[in-house]
Amino acid sequence: MPTQLVILAAGEGTRMLSDRPKVLHEIAGLPLYAHAIAAGAALDPERIVLVLGHGAEAVRADAEARFGDVAIAIQSEQLGTAHATAQARAALEGATGDAVVLYGDTPFIRPETLVAMKAARAAGHDLVVLGFEARDPGRYGRLVLAGASLEKIVEFKDATPEERAIGLCNSGVMMAGVSTLFDLVDAVGNDNAAGEYYLTDIVAIARARGLSATAVTCPEAETMGINTRAELAEAERIFQDTARAAALADGVTLVAPDTVHFAHDTWIGRDAVVEPFVVFGPGVTVETGATIRAFSHLEGCHVSAGAVVGPYARLRPGAEIGNDARIGNFVEVKNAEIGEGAKVNHLSYVGDASVGEAANIGAGTITCNYDGVFKHRTTIGARAFIGSDTMLVAPVSVGAGAMTASGSVITEDVPDGALAVGRGRQATKPGFATRFFEKLRAQKAAQKAAQESTGQE
Ligand code: UD1
Ligand code: MG
Repeated sequence: MPTQLVILAAGEGTRMLSDRPKVLHEIAGLPLYAHAIAAGAALDPERIVLVLGHGAEAVRADAEARFGDVAIAIQSEQLGTAHATAQARAALEGATGDAVVLYGDTPFIRPETLVAMKAARAAGHDLVVLGFEARDPGRYGRLVLAGASLEKIVEFKDATPEERAIGLCNSGVMMAGVSTLFDLVDAVGNDNAAGEYYLTDIVAIARARGLSATAVTCPEAETMGINTRAELAEAERIFQDTARAAALADGVTLVAPDTVHFAHDTWIGRDAVVEPFVVFGPGVTVETGATIRAFSHLEGCHVSAGAVVGPYARLRPGAEIGNDARIGNFVEVKNAEIGEGAKVNHLSYVGDASVGEAANIGAGTITCNYDGVFKHRTTIGARAFIGSDTMLVAPVSVGAGAMTASGSVITEDVPDGALAVGRGRQATKPGFATRFFEKLRAQKAAQKAAQESTGQE
């Protein structure tokens, strides 16, 4: 049975005190709403509908860039969660199977939990709600059960003291057949303490119609919603702790786990070593046995087996580091392939380039890739030796086994095996420095004597 995903994300998020829509704030380099979509991906959804209101255009732009195929429904007035759900109707026209409603500000729902809800649907329940036992039930909606049957959800504001004593709370995640969901939502009114259309009301409506409803439960940690910067920071901490533990469990050495920062999609192979204070941005894969040394920053790059990166290295998007290559301190690599066993050990910028296997790039080398308008490529052949402080003015190539002299500005292609020298020729003047300084010191002594004789008069 196909699954359709509806993500509610129209709320303002006032307590973030932000010009940015709440669901665009990130955990581990991924916006909150995208975490919800990632959880829903476990059900292989046919359609994904994002219900947006505040900051809709910014979220739409992000979603289109990131996922391409996401439908946007606009809720221009935030009249409640049932009203928000109803906005997804047009985007789900003709869709069959189940609809799952998730919140865009609740990033930690695990795929397994959604699979368990799907199983409850398959077992014949018309409506499945995700609940959790809250340590402090506070203002959450309460699930009212009769045996295994879910009878209704009462919002805190509308609950009696007995209902408020219930510890089983509503996470907000619900699943029902697509047409059932919209039929139920249609029947929701707003005669309640908040004057809102509550999605939670569909449970009592379903029961009154003789439909069955049940609750699946999950650990409270999964249901954490983000409303403030402090909660965002706490969620980041939880994500990082989980990612570190997972890396250690997978056979990665983290010398000081608490200091390593992962992105949502960081992949590190077994027996890789990550030294303290390393930051992984999105899109990084590190193969078996590679070493990422302290204080390095990596994003959108691939590090092959046996390579050593850092300390203090920066790998930017498109950096492809070959097997056993070395990227040393204060080296930046962007959109460049570094061949097997090649070395870029000190203080260099290698961008829009390819470096052949076993090439050696001397300290202070720069690929001058940008002319102010266009970017150009530099190609360095296998086993080439680039002298320290070489400026490679792209587009330019240095052939296999070729050399450049230190301090050269290379503007023309260098053939295989050649030496290119592109700098002023050295002139040496014997004794010049000695004579020069003697002259200056004599001048200074004369000035001093003149001042003293003036002072005596
Ligand atoms: C909701 C539930 C409550 C549950 C709690 C869990 C209802 C009536 N109450 O309450 O039972 O315990 O979540 O966190 O559903 N949204 C819209 N449009 C709207 C209103 C909300 O898109 O008109 C979105 C928000 O952006 C947010 C989500 O729906 O992502 C939940 O809204 P929120 O206002 O936080 O609901 P709660 O009052 O917390
Ligand atoms: Mg809420």
